[in-house]
Parts: sequence; C-alpha cells; structure tokens
Amino acid sequence: MFLLEQVLSQLEIELSISSTELLTIASSFQKHMEQGLSECNSSLKMFPSYLQAPNGCEVGTFLALDFGGSNARGAVVKLEGEGTFQEINRLSRPLLDPDSGRDYRAPDVTAEELFDFLAGILQEVFTNFLTQNPTLKSITPRPLPLGFAFSFPYRQRTIREGFLLNWNKEVKTSGVVGKDVGSLLSAALERRGLSSIIKPTAIINDTVTTFLTAAYQDHSVDIASIIGTGHNTCYLETKAPGFDSPVIVNTESGNFSDAPETTYDLILDQQSNNPGEQRFEKKLSGKYLGELFRQIVLGFSHQGLLGTLNNPPAPALWNQPYSISGKVLSLILTEEHSHSSLAAGDEYVALQRIAYLLTKRSARLMAASLIGVVRHLDPDLNHPHTVAIDGSLYKGMPGYAQELWAALNEGFGSKANLVTVKLSAGGSLTGAAIAAAITSCRKPSYTASE
Ligand code: BGC
Repeated sequence: MFLLEQVLSQLEIELSISSTELLTIASSFQKHMEQGLSECNSSLKMFPSYLQAPNGCEVGTFLALDFGGSNARGAVVKLEGEGTFQEINRLSRPLLDPDSGRDYRAPDVTAEELFDFLAGILQEVFTNFLTQNPTLKSITPRPLPLGFAFSFPYRQRTIREGFLLNWNKEVKTSGVVGKDVGSLLSAALERRGLSSIIKPTAIINDTVTTFLTAAYQDHSVDIASIIGTGHNTCYLETKAPGFDSPVIVNTESGNFSDAPETTYDLILDQQSNNPGEQRFEKKLSGKYLGELFRQIVLGFSHQGLLGTLNNPPAPALWNQPYSISGKVLSLILTEEHSHSSLAAGDEYVALQRIAYLLTKRSARLMAASLIGVVRHLDPDLNHPHTVAIDGSLYKGMPGYAQELWAALNEGFGSKANLVTVKLSAGGSLTGAAIAAAITSCRKPSYTASE
C-alpha cells in the first residue's frame, strides 16, 4: 500500500496545475488568440463564424440539423422571440446503424452516403412536421431556412460554406476533408428532391450554437464553451480583422498546444488517429479522459500496484483502447467502492483518486483558457462577462463545475465576481435555428474581406 500511495502522490504532482501555471497557461492562450487573429503562426485557428450575437427578437419556424460525432439530430424549431423557443419533431439517429451495422463514420463510407443519411433525417423531420400541420403545405411560400451545426474544424468564407480541414473525434468518412460541407448537404437535398423545400442558410460550429442559444436568452453572454466528447470555445470579438462589427469567433481551442504534458499525454497523442493535433482537447474532453485513466491504471497494474484488476472480466476491459468512457469515470467518482465490480477496497479508492486528478486537471486547464479569453477581451477586467457552458463533463461529471469555478476564482482574484458562468440550456438545434433566423431574416450587417 505504501508504494501505491507514493506512486499516486507522484501522479498528483504530474497532473497538478498550480496557481502560477494557471496564469501562465492563460496568458499563453491569450497570446495564441492574438496571433491567430492576426494570421500569425498560432495553434488557435480563430475562425470568424460570420455571425453576430442574436438580439432575442428572431422569430419564425426553422429547420435545424446537428452533426458532431456519434449521433446526428434534426428538428423543426419555432423561435418565439424574447428568448423563448420550442423544438418539435426532434429526431436523433446514431451514425452507427444498430440494425444494419453500417457506420457512417467509417473510411469506407463516401461523402455522398454520409450526406444522404443526413438529408434523410431532415426529410423525416420535415415530413412529420407537415403531417402534423397539413395546412402549411399550401401556405408555405418559400423554402424553410436550415441551420446546420457541424462540429468539426472547418474554414469559412461565407456563412453558407464550410471547408472541412480535418476530421476528429474518430470520424473518418472518405471524401469530405477539403470539401465544402454546405455544398455536400445541398447536393444531397437535391438528390432527394428537397431543394425547393429546404434551404441551408448557415453552417455553424456547436460552440457557436451554444453561444447563440444562451445569448438569445441572456444578452450578457460573450463567451461560450463546450466540454463534452470534444472541447472548444468561442467568443464575441469586437476587433476581428476584416469585420466592421462584432463577430463570434470560433477559437478551436481544442488544438491549443501550450499546456504542460505528461508521459501519458504523449503516449495517448502518439497512439491517436491524429498525432500532434487537438492536444488540449486530448487532456480535457470526455473522449480522452477515460483513455488517459485506462493507460494510467494499466501502468500501475504492470508495476504490480493494482492486483485485483487482473481478476476476470477486468483484463478485457483494461486492455481495450478507449474502453473506458467519460460516463464510466463519472460512475467511478460517484459509486461506493463496496458496490464496484472494477476493483476492491483500497484499490478502488486509488481508481477514484486517479479519476479525480484527471477531472481536476481538465477543469483547471479549461479555466486557464477561459481566463485567457476574458483577459483578451478586457485586460484589466473592468466589465462583467458571462460564459455559457454546455457538455456532459460540466453537466454531469462529479465535482467538475466546482473545480472550474474554483480555478476561475483563483485566476480572477478580487474581480472574480465580474465573471458569471452559466449552463447553456437548449443545445445545438436551437442555436442552429437561431443562426438560420439571423442569416435569413436580417440583412448582412458586415462583409468580410477575402
Ligand atoms: C471540434 C470542435 C467542436 C468541439 C466540441 C472538437 O473536436 O474540433 O469544432 O466544437 O469538438 O464538439
């Protein structure tokens, strides 16, 4: 037990982010933001979203599509103004079809097949909507505007297009990287005879949809973050080069490269599908925390420190990469060790400590990046700021939100009360509909230079 305790203490040192490091990472993040905005070499992509903040008065009926990983979802969204909305005819489909076993994320699937699948979801949502509202058939004078939440790194020159730079979150569908996902979706709608009925008007990242949904209800929101399977942050930039009014900028913070790295991080990165990329996300998000946990536990076990892991059926679980999800980590953190099938007694307490250390590091790194964003917007912190957050870790990982708030308080010191953090309720579909509303109802209020 003594050796286990020693090794755990060493791990605690490796994974800890001190108060000084918190501020150093924050200022490096701020520097990378500023370099990214001026198109100098930076790990932050700083993509303008071509969207301004909503004013809360956007109203009407819109279609929304959301694809960001293992599920794709569609809905009709009614925006009722003054921050109220309704999602109706909502439909969710897994990218891995449970009946046929077809996985639309696999490399042997073509872009056309993936986008036909997405257009099929929209067709079903729209058909259900018309069935329930038969009178609309004759009175709908123009196609329904569609907002498409697409949560992968892509470059835009207009709000209607998005050129995929690279897949992540283990999606590998062929023929999409380098292409405009707006055109791929329009072509799929055309193949289904839907192009006169549904009109894609906006492509938006899920961080931006989080921003839009939260800001639709609360105008003080100026930053939004996701911490779930993936991680990312966007904010309202008042001085984006080429834009004459404020624009929401997607930092793609998951790719930030300047955070302390342990041997476990290096191994995970090397064994991943995209070595060298998304290194911040690989330390923070639900997709990777379970895998880091598995590798640490396996390492301990190989040193003979966690013997009961060798009891069946545990070896199969521990030897399989990505077999431990963020959900399993949450359970480990909550479950009484006496009820666990994973390990017994002191060893279970050791597993909980490892899970806690990884969770705490994630929350503190995320806080560091948010401090960087706030300092970029308001170097002396003279104004109030509201950060809207969505994602399974913030919502459901025991202790996550508390660690994040504590780190923000530590970083902002006596001015911490100027920064409010709130859960963004509503999600990507509503945000996509708000983007469709902004782009189809308002005259563009700015132009971007090429
Ligand atoms: C993607 C981002 C996305 C985030 C959250 C990351 O892997 O690169 O575009 O916003 O996940 O879904």
